[in-house]
Amino acid sequence: MEVNNNIVLTGFMGTGKSSVGRRLASRLGYRFVDTDTLIVDKAGLPIKEIFEQSGEPRFRELEREAIGNISRESGLVIATGGGVVLDDINMSNLRNNGVIVCLTATPEIIMERTEGRTDRPLLNTSEREQRVRELLEFRRQFYEKADLTVDTSSMRVDEVIKVILDFVKTRTRR
Ligand code: S3P
Repeated sequence: MEVNNNIVLTGFMGTGKSSVGRRLASRLGYRFVDTDTLIVDKAGLPIKEIFEQSGEPRFRELEREAIGNISRESGLVIATGGGVVLDDINMSNLRNNGVIVCLTATPEIIMERTEGRTDRPLLNTSEREQRVRELLEFRRQFYEKADLTVDTSSMRVDEVIKVILDFVKTRTRR
């Protein structure tokens, strides 16, 4: 790819942003950045602890700050946390310097992929399936604003990467 813009992966928890992002970055020779990791490094605490000690609003503040900083760089594949799309400032920062790719998956697949994990505070509830469905429904309109949407439910990581690369190539040729 000639243009060294960022590729931004958005999408719900469990849609494959980190696994796809890491491999996509190595394929392109881009640096891989995960916004959750930036937040954890800055706060010196795991996400679960940030939510417990300071609440979700503080987490979102740290998230917005991390995105503001990272959006100024180029040549990155950025995997974003599932709630990043809810904030207009986040999205305009990311869009300024990158193409937005949303990964999706069915609620059933999301349930499977997030099963047995306790590091996602929003899913730490006994009504996990209902929570997943509610959040998906509420966030749908935000995820839909992406430049490209890829349903990863029954795709291998290398297949997802191919779809993204094909799309990015057509964009940079214009
Ligand atoms: C969140 C998703 C998580 C993390 C935090 C909140 C969300 O990231 O940012 O737990 O609001 O959907 P992943 O999508 O990488 O799991």
